[in-house]
Amino acid sequence: MRKKIIAYNFVFTEVLEELNEHYDVVFFDGIVPKKDREFIQALQEAVGIVGLALPVDEELLTRAPHLKIVSNNSTGFNNLSIPEMTKRGVMGTNTPGVLEETTADAIFGILLAAARRIAELDHFVKNGKWTKHLTKDQYAIDVHHKTLGIIGMGKIGAQIAKRGHLGFDMNILYHNRTRNPEAEKQYDATYCDLDTLLKEADFVCLMTPLTSDTENLIGEREFKLMKKSSIFVNGSRGKTVNEEALINALTNQEIYGAGLDVFRLEPLNPDHPILSFPNVVTTPHIGSSTFETELKMARLAVENLVAGLAGERPKNLVNPEVLL
Ligand code: DGY
Repeated sequence: MRKKIIAYNFVFTEVLEELNEHYDVVFFDGIVPKKDREFIQALQEAVGIVGLALPVDEELLTRAPHLKIVSNNSTGFNNLSIPEMTKRGVMGTNTPGVLEETTADAIFGILLAAARRIAELDHFVKNGKWTKHLTKDQYAIDVHHKTLGIIGMGKIGAQIAKRGHLGFDMNILYHNRTRNPEAEKQYDATYCDLDTLLKEADFVCLMTPLTSDTENLIGEREFKLMKKSSIFVNGSRGKTVNEEALINALTNQEIYGAGLDVFRLEPLNPDHPILSFPNVVTTPHIGSSTFETELKMARLAVENLVAGLAGERPKNLVNPEVLL
């Protein structure tokens, strides 16, 4: 019997065609992985999984006794229980190095949209409300020459700093686990502690990966530290922010607005209270979602999968300790 590969929420199906010669590739999309019977059955024979945001926990791993590799089609891998995978000898991989500029474009665009009220005023025009000159209460706020605070100065954070500093003459503050000398040199970025960044930034842009250290990093205390005129942008993961605290901060006008590409629960529930704020720009986790970049990510994910299944070390192995 041919070995099975599970493709989960994998859009560029043609990239997987090369695997058909040796493997039986089965596709799952929009299912509830813990409940879908066909998926649970496929796990029993699967040697590899390639896809986006599949929660890989102890339960799933127990159901997949032959699994060798989970190739994430994303740079974030917070969906993988790494210790559990490593314990069972299962490799995990991600897709860094191909999506940083694309993601920075999107997050900077969301920042601009929130500051200049682009989405809100687009609705205004489309709803036939543009009948006279704008009034003061429709004015927005400037981006250029303001202070951009970036929490998480990795590769994407640095690309956002580049856009802000070189394109919009922004002053860059950043907070990170480690210093980023390159960003300091190229974009004149100043390292500071989190509280200083929150107090001084006009735009607070959250770009950290989700880990046990960054879960709920931004909550009530942090929103209270931000300027009343500030805009909060989240391009990391929904769980880095306490959404209730964000809603309270918006309700109490502790911040001016927000731009959110990620949410605790995705897709976002249509009844979610965040949707009632006109000063919040919401996008459906679009960071890396361009044709060009998603295709590169899909190819890289398949490359990692193939290497792992061939017994080689995949290029983007996130748990190298599995090979020890
Ligand atoms: C990533 O690559 O982590 C993007 O957020 C898409 O999930």
